[in-house]
Amino acid sequence: MAINTADTSALSTDDGVRRRDWIHIAALSTAGVGGASLLFPLISQMAPSEDVLAASSTDVDVGAIQPGQSIKTTFRKQPLFVKRLTPEEIAAAKKDDAADMRDPATLASRTKEGHEDILITMGVCTHLGCVPLGAAEGENKGEFGGYFCPCHGSHYDVAGRIRKGPAPLNLKVPEYSFSSDTVVRVG
Ligand code: FES
Repeated sequence: MAINTADTSALSTDDGVRRRDWIHIAALSTAGVGGASLLFPLISQMAPSEDVLAASSTDVDVGAIQPGQSIKTTFRKQPLFVKRLTPEEIAAAKKDDAADMRDPATLASRTKEGHEDILITMGVCTHLGCVPLGAAEGENKGEFGGYFCPCHGSHYDVAGRIRKGPAPLNLKVPEYSFSSDTVVRVG
């Protein structure tokens, strides 16, 4: 016997949901499963390869940086500051560890054990992203002797911690590790 689909799709179930709606829900669910199964291969293809990961890290030779000197380089196309602190700067930074700060952090938490004289931070102001001064010879280091952002007047101390001005956070310390006593791999 021929089925009158028009009549069947218009039938109502006990809870008032029409059969036609069930058909739509079933079709959408199937599409959803199909969409999800398509998504997984796409995501796995999008995962960065070993080559890409290696290219996204930067090796920095810190051996030639003298105490009190900084260098400016780049990491993932953004400015990166690498600074070797003097014993006086280390003492000053430690003395301020307990100071009232907007983004409290100790020098030890921002450096590696055994290498507390090497401070590595992004050279990007945490206010609106300008590049602070202080990494190059003769530049204004601000009131706390670290970095100064001239865009709106943020002052960072020798450990790159925000001490004055509108920036909300310390200069970001990227992921890094020492590959040797003098070479640092950032990323
Ligand atoms: S961007 Fe640095 S203070 Fe505004």
